[in-house]
Amino acid sequence: MKSVRISQIGDFEDQEVQLNGWLYNKRSSGKLHFLQLRDGSGIIQCVVFKGDVAPEIFELCGHVGQECSLAVAGSVRKDERSPLGYELGVKTVEVVGESSEYPITPKEHGVSFLLDHRHLWLRSSRPHAILKIRSEICKACRDFMEERDFTLIDAPIFTPAACEGTSTLFETDYFDQKAFLTQSGQLYMEAAAMAFGNVYCFGPTFRAEKSKTRRHLTEFWMIEPEMAFCDLKKDMEVAEEFVYYILKRVLEKRREELKVLERDIEALEKVTLPFPRLSYDEAINRLQDLGSDIKWGTDLGGDDETILSKQYDSPILVHRYPLDVKAFYMKEDPEDSRLALCVDMLAPEGYGEIIGGGQREDDFAILTRKINEHELPFEAFKWYTDLRKYGSVPHAGFGMGIERVVAWLCGLKHVRETIPFPRMLQRLYP
Ligand code: 4AD
Ligand code: MG
Repeated sequence: MKSVRISQIGDFEDQEVQLNGWLYNKRSSGKLHFLQLRDGSGIIQCVVFKGDVAPEIFELCGHVGQECSLAVAGSVRKDERSPLGYELGVKTVEVVGESSEYPITPKEHGVSFLLDHRHLWLRSSRPHAILKIRSEICKACRDFMEERDFTLIDAPIFTPAACEGTSTLFETDYFDQKAFLTQSGQLYMEAAAMAFGNVYCFGPTFRAEKSKTRRHLTEFWMIEPEMAFCDLKKDMEVAEEFVYYILKRVLEKRREELKVLERDIEALEKVTLPFPRLSYDEAINRLQDLGSDIKWGTDLGGDDETILSKQYDSPILVHRYPLDVKAFYMKEDPEDSRLALCVDMLAPEGYGEIIGGGQREDDFAILTRKINEHELPFEAFKWYTDLRKYGSVPHAGFGMGIERVVAWLCGLKHVRETIPFPRMLQRLYP
């Protein structure tokens, strides 16, 4: 008999098939057992009628426990009332692996209990929907880059130096040297952009975030495009088209999952191109008008980002922050030496920063001075300054945090549910 996936069941109406999966839920009444079977692609109701199966099979179905794995054979019947549109009229059931006292029951559990059982929690409908959306987002990211002829260049994980400041570095032993887990692949992408033109990396990045917030993980995934012969204006255009492309893809392909999450889909449909642009100066004035006590010269805090982004339906591009609050590699604004040619994209509805990027310092002497001013070890960056010695060009790029985008699109208040196995200040298990 043919083994099929539940999502394909519509192609097998009135035919006999075998389904392999796990028992999601069960209900019994007299001569009937209703087994909710899930296989990762969907959930189907399998109806076991006493008159249709051997007595020992009917008996067995009365005892199978939640999440026990099963091979179920029977015929596919149309069923208008079920969300799937089909049910299975069961002929035989075989237990593949027993399960009893499954810890996650249909009752409510606290999030910390669920995170301790993340290896099992992944089977529930909500994490399942979120991670399907995450997978779609990652695919859309790659498709966008491929369509625009960006070359995938993988950045290393062990690095000799800090990219995003020394306060969030994870240090490890590297034989007789010290190494750091990468905070960003950007510096390597700059080297690659000089070789390939348009490039991107997509991988895990690490930050020793020592405070508990709902937007920070210690291990997160970032996609980082970098473009040679590119300025801040072009960089912002690519960033907004990229995010819009991802949003459209999720709306098109993952509507069912958004519904499972009870996401306000209308809010997502209000997003339009182009995204509003605000200079840092404008953002500060706006925030002060809205009652914030933020002063010119400080970075926007999480609360400021929330207040500001709530004013718009689309993500906003805040550009030209003070150089002093940004990383050493940012290019100075030729029109105002206090400012950096950088941009942050803030998601609407208060989901905060999803993208950080900008134009890079491409002058050897200025970059060398910046490295010294930031008290970074020049030796570790010598290779990076070489890029300004041999055919330097204006270039720009950005990094988008996948978990922040998943949180926004899924409507999640906290990033801990956006990644299969979250790593945070107090979480390394499972
Ligand atoms: O703004 P960030 O620090 O920028 C960079 O790392 C640049 N080197 C990227 C580049 O230009 N190639 O980080 C970029 C994005 C943020 O906007 C946010 O979405 C995400 O990475 N991010 C985090 N996500 C989860 N947890 C954390 N601790 C994060 N830190 C940054
Ligand atoms: Mg940032």
